[in-house]
Amino acid sequence: MPSPVNLQSVFFIAGIWMTNMIYFMLSWSNSHQSVARDWIYEVTDYSFAIQLHQNNSERTLTFSPNGRLGNRMFQYASLVGIASRSHGNPAVATSDFLSECFLISTNIKKNLCARGNDKHPADLHFDRWAFHLGANVTCLTSLMQSWRYFGHVSDRIRDIYSFRDRHKQTAQQWMNTLNLTSTVVSVQIRRTDFVNQYTNLINPITVKYINTAMHMYRRVFGKTVAFLVVSDDIQWCKQYINTTAFTTVYFSENHSPCVDLAVQASAHHSIITSGSSFGFWGAFLANGHCTYFPGWLRTGSWYNLDMNEADYYLPHWTPVPRT
Ligand SMILES: *[C@@H]1O[C@H](CO)[C@@H](O)[C@H](O)[C@H]1NC(C)=O
Ligand SMILES: *[C@@H]1O[C@H](CO)[C@@H](O)[C@H](O)[C@H]1NC(C)=O
Ligand SMILES: *[C@@H]1O[C@H](CO)[C@@H](O)[C@H](O)[C@H]1NC(C)=O
Ligand SMILES: *[C@@H]1O[C@H](CO)[C@@H](O)[C@H](O)[C@H]1NC(C)=O
Repeated sequence: MPSPVNLQSVFFIAGIWMTNMIYFMLSWSNSHQSVARDWIYEVTDYSFAIQLHQNNSERTLTFSPNGRLGNRMFQYASLVGIASRSHGNPAVATSDFLSECFLISTNIKKNLCARGNDKHPADLHFDRWAFHLGANVTCLTSLMQSWRYFGHVSDRIRDIYSFRDRHKQTAQQWMNTLNLTSTVVSVQIRRTDFVNQYTNLINPITVKYINTAMHMYRRVFGKTVAFLVVSDDIQWCKQYINTTAFTTVYFSENHSPCVDLAVQASAHHSIITSGSSFGFWGAFLANGHCTYFPGWLRTGSWYNLDMNEADYYLPHWTPVPRT
């Protein structure tokens, strides 16, 4: 058993490796794999920075892209929040997950990510220093999954994440075929890698949690509340969601990630899988009530060291136990 000092230096030395592991893990963990596989691609270099058209006369901040849609949404939202605090101009690339789903335009002129010009604010908690960046910082290299990085510009973020018409329309067309006469709650169920790859790091979603959260919404909004289920494992959802108890459940199938996100954004309230940034953003855009389960990261897992749930989940969201 090493002393705390030793443990700390071990942690420090392992830092770079762990950072890479976080990226690796999260770049997988925010996919939405069962649908539109060909849509999923990865930006791994900075060539995106070539298609740029704005001059560099003012301070510009960008991020080095990591992960997929949900993580990218955290990165860009946090960038906008941080830039607003440090008088910077947030810049984003084209040809990316964001511009696939949203009406977002590019404004980077050249590769702004270079050694010495970059900073790495914490991933799963808030680093206050990020609001006081040095004048020469141009690039943020972390995932920055904390609402505290962008909570002060929430309305602007929701506005930035306006869906392209084709996604909005597909979502709406599907919802129009359903009998949605009352309150609508989205149920986002993330499985795949969460149940297969990361079982030593995380606690995946449970039937118990889903049931408890659905009952809770039904108690509050009445029997006619409709549930729209989006998932990377819709067959599992069909098998385990009790459609005898809940007759107003509808499963979103064969929709792209952008459309599933638009479905969540169109609902009044949300049930999400903790730790899924895709779920986080569906709920954030819906802007209603949201349930999550505490203890997504397993106690003692190294990744847990970075997590502060109060920085991750919005303060008015409701924790519902998973066991
Ligand atoms: C940069 O662009 C702005 C308009 O986008 C323009 O007003 C300014 O003169 C330009 N600065 C330089 C140094 O080119
Ligand atoms: C940016 O500023 C920091 C601290 O002032 C300095 O250590 C670093 O070398 C600077 N980077 C560049 C590229 O000028
Ligand atoms: C639609 O839902 C309402 C309320 O739940 C119900 O009264 C009505 O019969 C439903 N209509 C159809 C066509 O299912
Ligand atoms: C599903 O709900 C019905 C009605 O509430 C209940 O009788 C049944 O036991 C439930 N099934 C499971 C597997 O929980």
